[in-house]
Amino acid sequence: MIIRPIEDADWASFLPTFHGIVDDGESYAYPSGLSDDEVRRLWDEGAPSLAVVAVDPVDGAVLGSAKTGPNRPGRGAHVSTASFMVSPDARGRGVGRALGEWVLAWAREQGYDAMQFNAVVETNTAAVTLWQDLGFRVVGTVPEAFDSRRHGRVGLHVMHRPL
Ligand SMILES: CC(C)(COP(=O)(O)OP(=O)(O)OC[C@H]1O[C@@H](n2cnc3c(N)ncnc32)[C@H](O)[C@@H]1OP(=O)(O)O)[C@@H](O)C(=O)NCCC(=O)NCCS
Repeated sequence: MIIRPIEDADWASFLPTFHGIVDDGESYAYPSGLSDDEVRRLWDEGAPSLAVVAVDPVDGAVLGSAKTGPNRPGRGAHVSTASFMVSPDARGRGVGRALGEWVLAWAREQGYDAMQFNAVVETNTAAVTLWQDLGFRVVGTVPEAFDSRRHGRVGLHVMHRPL
């Protein structure tokens, strides 16, 4: 697959994935009903952050997207963060892993010292397993911080790895 910065033409494919994942209620605390422009602004914040897409090299389909950049401004800016969304049709084929490896390499190249995920839903087994496999450790769990559609109030993991 090809991973490259998101382009205007990609949004038509990625926006339904974004809205579907938020409405599913298992992984992100974004409000439902954001306008497409609001989604574009919050997912593609501009430099020093970067939003990328994973694209099928054969038919150009957008398989998923990641955003990455500083976790905090100023004196927190040596730690990076990232978010990921893979289209339901493309899951279980290595897209999430490829995007994870790509943002880790990018963050290392940019000179970040670490990467931190601030809010990984503890019942999101696919994500927790994948991030642990990529070297992240749960450094703490905020109890009952996420209102999962299926599981009710569950914890949010803070996950971290040095680069
Ligand atoms: C989490 C997510 C990004 C994973 O993407 P994906 O493309 O399906 O993942 P991959 O195919 O690359 O799988 C990589 C690893 O994740 C884990 N994994 C993936 N799906 C899993 C599942 N259903 N159950 C358990 N582990 C799973 C496995 O360890 C897998 O390793 P393997 O390749 O050795 O089998 C994707 O499910 C997604 O977009 N979910 C909704 C949004 C979300 O949760 N984003 C992350 C928020 S922290």
